[in-house]
Amino acid sequence: MKVFLIGFMGCGKSTIGMRLASKIGSSFVDLDHEVEQQAGSTISAFFSAHGEEAFRQLESKVLKEFPYPEHSVIATGGGAPCYGDNMQWMNANGTTVYIDMSPPALASRLEKGREKRPLLKNLNDAELFAFIEGKLAERRSFYQQAQLIVDGVGLTAERLNALLQS
Ligand code: S3P
Repeated sequence: MKVFLIGFMGCGKSTIGMRLASKIGSSFVDLDHEVEQQAGSTISAFFSAHGEEAFRQLESKVLKEFPYPEHSVIATGGGAPCYGDNMQWMNANGTTVYIDMSPPALASRLEKGREKRPLLKNLNDAELFAFIEGKLAERRSFYQQAQLIVDGVGLTAERLNALLQS
């Protein structure tokens, strides 16, 4: 069984994913980390050197070719479901979960640590909020193709596990 966690940057995919995996005895895979392994550099450095399109192609290749352990919980990058047929691929190869969160909640989580995320690193607070609103509006139709949509506010691994069982 594979569980793909999808959603905007900052919604908690990695944190919840790691906790869920340990709770249910699955492996945890962080796709951003695997992309960095393949690229041999950080995502930020890869973006600067090769641009976003090259990053999306590499991300898609890693998503589809990674040798996932039989039972895994996978945290995907925020843009992964919105490129090519990645969303259909995830729906066909596992259970997809959209961790839904509003722009204000995302903004308060993303204010810190902006420099690690190439799409955010040059934005001030006002620009960050506008960016989140605009990008989320663009991406929502992809995220909503998930098989399970859960509210990310106050989400715990226990609650997510219960929702996956129901
Ligand atoms: C991105 C999200 C990031 C990372 C890259 C691009 C995006 O992952 O893949 O910086 O386009 O939303 P997280 O969602 O894990 O921050």
